[in-house]
Amino acid sequence: MSDLRDLESSGKKVVMFGGKGGVGKTTTSSATALHFANLGKKTLLISSDPTQSLSDIFETEIQATEIQVKGVRNLFAVEISSEEILKRWKEKFGPEIYEAVSYLAPVKPEIVDYIGSAPGIDEEFMLDYINELVKEDRYDIIIWDTAPAGHTLHLLNMPVEFINHLTAAVNIYTSVQSYVDRIRSGLGVKKKRRTIVEIIDGWKDLSGEILRLLKDPTKTEFITVTIPEGLGINQTTRLIKEFGRYGLGLEHIIVNYVVTDPDCDFHKKRYRMQQKYIAKLKKRYPGLKIVEIPLFPTEIKGVERIKKIEEVLFKSQLSQSL
Ligand SMILES: Nc1ncnc2c1ncn2[C@@H]1O[C@H](COP(=O)(O)OP(=O)(O)OP(=O)(O)O)[C@@H](O)[C@H]1O
Ligand SMILES: [Mg+2]
Repeated sequence: MSDLRDLESSGKKVVMFGGKGGVGKTTTSSATALHFANLGKKTLLISSDPTQSLSDIFETEIQATEIQVKGVRNLFAVEISSEEILKRWKEKFGPEIYEAVSYLAPVKPEIVDYIGSAPGIDEEFMLDYINELVKEDRYDIIIWDTAPAGHTLHLLNMPVEFINHLTAAVNIYTSVQSYVDRIRSGLGVKKKRRTIVEIIDGWKDLSGEILRLLKDPTKTEFITVTIPEGLGINQTTRLIKEFGRYGLGLEHIIVNYVVTDPDCDFHKKRYRMQQKYIAKLKKRYPGLKIVEIPLFPTEIKGVERIKKIEEVLFKSQLSQSL
């Protein structure tokens, strides 16, 4: 039976958990974070899931700033909403954007809100936040519980889309800028410190840097979480295909809610159905480790129950003693 133990010595800096709604992303990412913290690694668990489920699981009020999880050494957590991300984006880039844009045209500071509402800016900035964390090297490992898939795919496309978008934008701005420069130099107005073209170029460099981090298999891993049903398997197949398209590697698939030891007709039926899909996954992806988690009789809440999932993920013990 496969597990996640090879992650322990991999030296990876970012492990992302993705998959469709309700498959167990928050449960498995919390269990993985708890495991690394117990190994003595300073661990940050990030959630971009809007439902604040980390606070529920760890029974700690987890907020938009990194805090230590109550009663767990080395484990820190942060829950960041897209509003918070946007707020930070404005603080970081707002002043330079306003300076550059107001050079081109008489605009009000609200222009920054308008630019900040461009689709994908919050996802791009979330990636920037994680990239900064890796560079700062304050944590040994960052575990990221992403929002439900579809969203994850969008997120992964972001740096590529962002670069394409910015390339087009730079071309437009270059022509506007040189026109304004000519008029202003004719009027004797001095040139501003950074132009919008230079700022956008800076963002492009940043996007490239983020893409390199995501694509580096020694630093980043994506773990897909799924359920042993047709819908889950099809979605995982699409996700893996998409990852491949962007040159992003995958090593593990977690299959959650697996029925074990069926002892009634109902569960025997489900068991056969699930096993068919698990076999399909194994056949389709012989190079990937398929990690199975049994369906527990209770919900997974509180550190003690998360520990049971940790046991399954890292010690290959199928335990149903919750
Ligand atoms: N193996 C399991 N056995 C029993 N219950 C489980 C198991 N895994 C997860 N659960 C429960 O299923 C529910 C959904 O799990 P979780 O919140 O981890 O999913 P998610 O993928 O993060 O969902 P969302 O997409 O809404 O963020 C939770 O109530 C959790 O306690
Ligand atoms: Mg979740």
